[in-house]
Amino acid sequence: MNIAEQLPNAGMMALEDIDVSDSRLYQQDAWRPYFERLRNEDPVHYVADSQFGPFWSITRWEDIVAVDSNFEDFSSEPTIIIGDLGEDLPIRQFIAMDPPKHDVQRRAVQGVVAPKNLAEMESLIRSRVVEILDNLPVGETFNWVEHVSVNLTTQMLATLFDFPFDERSKLTYWSDLGAGSPEIAGGDVDPEERVAGLQECLETFTRIWRERKDDGVETLDLIRMLQRDPNTENMVDDPMEFLGNLLLLIIGGNDTTRNSASAGVLALNQYPAEYDKLRANPDLIPSMVSEVIRWQTPLMHMRRTANKDVEFQGKTIRKGEKVVMWYISGNHDETAIENANSFIIDRENPRKHMSFGFGVHRCMGNRLAEMQLRVLWEEIMQRFSKIEVVAEPERVQSNFVRGISDLQVRVHPL
Ligand code: HEM
Repeated sequence: MNIAEQLPNAGMMALEDIDVSDSRLYQQDAWRPYFERLRNEDPVHYVADSQFGPFWSITRWEDIVAVDSNFEDFSSEPTIIIGDLGEDLPIRQFIAMDPPKHDVQRRAVQGVVAPKNLAEMESLIRSRVVEILDNLPVGETFNWVEHVSVNLTTQMLATLFDFPFDERSKLTYWSDLGAGSPEIAGGDVDPEERVAGLQECLETFTRIWRERKDDGVETLDLIRMLQRDPNTENMVDDPMEFLGNLLLLIIGGNDTTRNSASAGVLALNQYPAEYDKLRANPDLIPSMVSEVIRWQTPLMHMRRTANKDVEFQGKTIRKGEKVVMWYISGNHDETAIENANSFIIDRENPRKHMSFGFGVHRCMGNRLAEMQLRVLWEEIMQRFSKIEVVAEPERVQSNFVRGISDLQVRVHPL
């Protein structure tokens, strides 16, 4: 039996039964009609009973912007994922903190993606992209995710942390464990494996921190930046805060860009006329990159928790209730974005999307992600007339990370 048949029909079911936290919706790429119904009929939607307990879904563009911009009423603490953290690893991280503590921790590391650093990183990224593309198995069918997307973003991550380069696959492994367990985001990672793997991550980085402390090296990486800022210089002594922030930077820099690198290939196969536009005019690469990030929405939701009873769009959200902003829905809201369900690489305002969020938590690495993807596509266009997708993609089971785990392709050199 086709597993897609197991999902209820979005148009026929009772409104109150619509539960968009079901990660099968994303694994089967079946989410669109559910959100369309919520946006039209119940844009601030309450689910009384889900795998993650009761929660509100915010699905319209304007409402998401309003919630994301209001940290006084809608707190990022204790966590920004729909599932609660659990007792085994009670991590803390600045994405899940409110001002002022959030601001001091963010300030400590945001220099790593300052414009000057980004400009310096571009040539390194380009040389790595070139090497990856020049070594692709031309004439064979292969998994683009593994050969290109994972490879590229893991190398970048190793650079940001100055992590031992030949052990960099560990970063990808920890990243996949980070948000992958069933109770956090409906994923399929074994919870025990997750705890063991993340403890190894903590131990490895604690050792790196101690070795690096006062080693006199001038160059800045994320660990040395935390060590040199007076607000974070002792973070290593608070293991759950150290691990939480490591995971934030690992997942932030990895899964998201990786899945955008795969989604671009898929989108251009599904919309061949857009690919023709790109071939005719490679200057469209930057706007195409933004469109891929919108179309894919690599992080599908962010959660807030009501700080007090709030009247919102005619509903009463009670103090302590979970409020989930579905960026994937906002990005497909026709009232905010024309032809939102189509992939169009020459939109008038391509950076108008909510994949990076809004407000004080707006993505710190957005310019780095865009730059990596731009360089990737610039180099692809120099080498290949087409990256042909030859099988249905396999998608990650999660309601948080919108991911592609397998994308079989053949590349056609120019
Ligand atoms: C925050 C998405 C790439 C680091 C966020 C948020 C989203 C997001 C949705 C939360 C926004 C909110 O709550 O309002 C993405 C996407 C990316 C990407 C879609 C790629 C296409 C990166 C990269 C880095 C990064 C490359 C590495 C430096 C962070 C950090 C935060 C964050 C540190 C927390 C910011 C805060 O709490 O102040 N990102 N991200 N992201 N992102 Fe990204």
